[in-house]
Amino acid sequence: LFAGQTEFVKGVVGMDGLPPADRIEICFAGRSNVGKSSLINALTGTRGIARASNTPGRTQEINYFTQGPELYLVDLPGYGFAKAPVAVVAKWQGLLKSYLSGRQTLRRAFVLIDSRHGIKSVDDEILSLLDKSAVPFQVVMTKADKVKEKDRAVILDQVRAKLQRHPAAYPEMVVTSSEKGDGIATLRAIIAGLD
Ligand code: GTP
Ligand code: MG
Repeated sequence: LFAGQTEFVKGVVGMDGLPPADRIEICFAGRSNVGKSSLINALTGTRGIARASNTPGRTQEINYFTQGPELYLVDLPGYGFAKAPVAVVAKWQGLLKSYLSGRQTLRRAFVLIDSRHGIKSVDDEILSLLDKSAVPFQVVMTKADKVKEKDRAVILDQVRAKLQRHPAAYPEMVVTSSEKGDGIATLRAIIAGLD
């Protein structure tokens, strides 16, 4: 499944702009600045096909990428906080929620959680939306390079405990660093194994 070239397809600003639902689709969701765009770049081995930035709220559209002939990778706008006007943020949050609850071909949502912070209440809201919409999701811990091993273990325990309350959650998490490459091959293999 995870084969061939990565290409940018389009940036979508409303549900009516979504491309035809003719491929398997996976998406990357998470708080603003958690590392969604960076992870897509690391996974696809493309430097900067998904635009990453230090400014929370960088990604304001639903960005579609093809990965080979059968798969869409979807980079989502972040939630939680953003350096953008309130009305603009409200619009893309609405779109995010519509997408997460209403996309037929969405096979799995990867929800990114910062290894330093664990699951916050804004994350829990999204996880509950995924439960309600019966979208299977898997947690990907990001920025593993920014925490010490023993602090990471504490956070992982917190995340594991919280996931037990979410029926749509896969119990296994993937710990990654887009910066150092940890966990990237593992995640790629998980995606390749989806059917
Ligand atoms: P929005 O589009 O604003 O929601 O953000 P995003 O989730 O797409 O985050 P993005 O990939 O733009 O990354 C945010 C910042 O975190 C950037 O400055 C990245 O360089 C940095 N970053 C992302 N992944 C890692 C990582 O694994 N390690 C470290 N140290 N920094 C990272
Ligand atoms: Mg982004």
